[in-house]
Amino acid sequence: MKLSKAWRLGHLGMKDMQQMLHPPRHRGGQLKKPTWIIVLVSLVCMFLVVAYIYPPQTSSACYIFSASGCQTLSSWLPPSVRELSDDEVAARVVISNILNTPPMKSKNPKIAFMFLSVGSLPFEKLWDKFFQGHEGRFSIYIHASRDKPVHSSSYFVNREIRSGKVEWGTVSMVEAEKRLLANALKDPDNQHFVLLSDSCVPLHDFDYVYNYLMYTNISFIDSFSDPGPHGSGRYSEHMLPEVEKKYFRKGAQWFTMKRQHALVVMADSLYYSKFRDYCKPGMDGRNCYADEHYLPTFFHMHDPNGIANWSVTHVDWSERKWHPKSYEKKDISEQLIKNITSITESVHVTSEEKAETTILPCMWNGMNRPCYLFARKFLPETLDSMIDIFSNYTTKT
Ligand SMILES: *[C@@H]1O[C@H](CO)[C@@H](O)[C@H](O)[C@H]1NC(C)=O
Ligand SMILES: *[C@@H]1O[C@H](CO)[C@@H](O)[C@H](O)[C@H]1NC(C)=O
Ligand SMILES: *[C@@H]1O[C@H](CO)[C@@H](O)[C@H](O)[C@H]1NC(C)=O
Ligand SMILES: *[C@@H]1O[C@H](CO)[C@@H](O)[C@H](O)[C@H]1NC(C)=O
Repeated sequence: MKLSKAWRLGHLGMKDMQQMLHPPRHRGGQLKKPTWIIVLVSLVCMFLVVAYIYPPQTSSACYIFSASGCQTLSSWLPPSVRELSDDEVAARVVISNILNTPPMKSKNPKIAFMFLSVGSLPFEKLWDKFFQGHEGRFSIYIHASRDKPVHSSSYFVNREIRSGKVEWGTVSMVEAEKRLLANALKDPDNQHFVLLSDSCVPLHDFDYVYNYLMYTNISFIDSFSDPGPHGSGRYSEHMLPEVEKKYFRKGAQWFTMKRQHALVVMADSLYYSKFRDYCKPGMDGRNCYADEHYLPTFFHMHDPNGIANWSVTHVDWSERKWHPKSYEKKDISEQLIKNITSITESVHVTSEEKAETTILPCMWNGMNRPCYLFARKFLPETLDSMIDIFSNYTTKT
């Protein structure tokens, strides 16, 4: 309800803008434009051209404006070209080469399912049903950061990789993601890489998920601009010059990535080091969480059109608490799953006092699609109900 209202308000806003830009013409006689407007516009254009060719070198060049006026002007102009460091030149050339090299064709393309967990995976039995009958089209990797998992599905046996300690909110989370990617990349048949948590469940059958991910050329990495305290408010100027504030993005950690993008992440140490060193809890008296900012910012900078900007893993933030809603046994019903799978718009809310909501259709290759393949956070007690529902919706389709 709230959302559709916000959407309609946004719509009204657009209409208002159009009216302001093209006001209805009532008084036909006054339409002739006086020449002075043309002269003024030419002068402003000339000034902009000169300002672009000779960009102000120091802030004193802004003396004719107020400080804020100068800032507004500089944000209008195309960015002045900064001399890149050796490391940046090297990083950028490697990244663009990987992105421009068509991916290796595999005869037996597989999807790598990478589980980040503390210990055992409570939904192994459900995933077992999901994978059954699709041998050879998937591979599983488990990063268990604390306890050795006990398995209830043969698909998961011996799929643990060497793991490291993971502390919530620190860069060790990103290290674990990179460790999973590195191990999964060793298999050249793995063409798409999915990061999942131990509280994630599948929302569709295997074929649907496989086709959805395999027949797209983008990665589903969540990325949006949040000017509020939990977005750009976490940015540190220590990240300069490589990471400018205007590129700083936020997004949920749960990604899916095509092979090229996984390689690009392996190749990057420069931008990664900026987040490792300057995006952490307590940085400059604020908390920054690298797992929510590194990949969203990195891909926004280097391949903005190659990412979907939403995550295919659904989570319910509607309670507006520090953590998302955890689904209990009593919450589970076929209708809940139907509701989640029928969502075709992604929603982003900023963290400002006057929060702004952005709603975009989940589009790729010109088609509006259901947004979600997986969902979290499900408590272990929901396992049996989820298996029932999963059996129901996979036999129906
Ligand atoms: C993906 O494919 C579509 C359609 O073939 C194309 O228009 C688009 O540029 C491609 N995007 C990327 C990131 O390769
Ligand atoms: C994701 O967002 C970026 C920047 O806002 C935009 O350029 C890009 O086209 C978006 N990606 C898709 C697939 O729409
Ligand atoms: C599903 O969506 C409908 C319509 O928005 C809503 O009335 C209903 O409460 C939802 N059911 C569940 C279980 O989320
Ligand atoms: C599964 O489908 C059957 C028959 O349509 C229905 O009775 C049952 O309640 C469904 N199970 C769940 C968990 O929704």
